[in-house]
Amino acid sequence: MNIAVISGSARPERQSHQVAVEVKNSLDKLNIRNWLFDVKELNLPLLDYTYDKHPAPGEILKQLKNKLDHTDAFIIVSPEHNGSFSGALKNTMDYFYKEYAHKVFGIVTVSSGVLGGINALKNLQHYVLKLNGIVAPEFLITPQVQKLFTNQQLTDESYGQRMNKFLDAFVALAEIVYQSKEQDARQV
Ligand SMILES: Cc1cc2nc3c(=O)[nH]c(=O)nc-3n(C[C@H](O)[C@H](O)[C@H](O)COP(=O)(O)O)c2cc1C
Repeated sequence: MNIAVISGSARPERQSHQVAVEVKNSLDKLNIRNWLFDVKELNLPLLDYTYDKHPAPGEILKQLKNKLDHTDAFIIVSPEHNGSFSGALKNTMDYFYKEYAHKVFGIVTVSSGVLGGINALKNLQHYVLKLNGIVAPEFLITPQVQKLFTNQQLTDESYGQRMNKFLDAFVALAEIVYQSKEQDARQV
């Protein structure tokens, strides 16, 4: 099983990226194959053509398409920006559509306030449904992200425990869906 961890803020001073890296490191420790789908690093232009309709997709878009085709499940790590998930995240993800279908999505939201990005979470759950994704019922909200890390290291133990609980539930569901697809493919 191969999981994409989407880091959803494109801001130079983004805080949520630390959470995405922590999710990635935790998956590494569990020996689960994964890769970082970083909207800042990809730096895609404002959406003009979706991948399928693109007259001349560049190398970055082609490589991303290939990686998405080989991805079985997603964990979106999104900041809350003005009561929703980030525009940069949506702009990047909207280049693709069928590549997300019938794959499990775990959602992690991040804010500097006390509500942990709950509004972004609700909007993301709807967005994932529109993509024909499978929304994992377990989620992780991250209040006051500025208090959780010291020198890029997670220092808040209780948040670490909540992340592990989220990951356990997400991985269990993603694994069930992945194994059932593998079984179907073997029977064809
Ligand atoms: C344009 C913008 C809008 C924001 N709106 C909200 C908000 O509605 N609710 C909230 O809790 N935090 C809000 N924040 C604070 C972010 O949650 C905070 O920057 C946090 O670190 C996650 O975003 P980041 O990864 O881009 O840093 C906003 C930040 C920006 C830059």
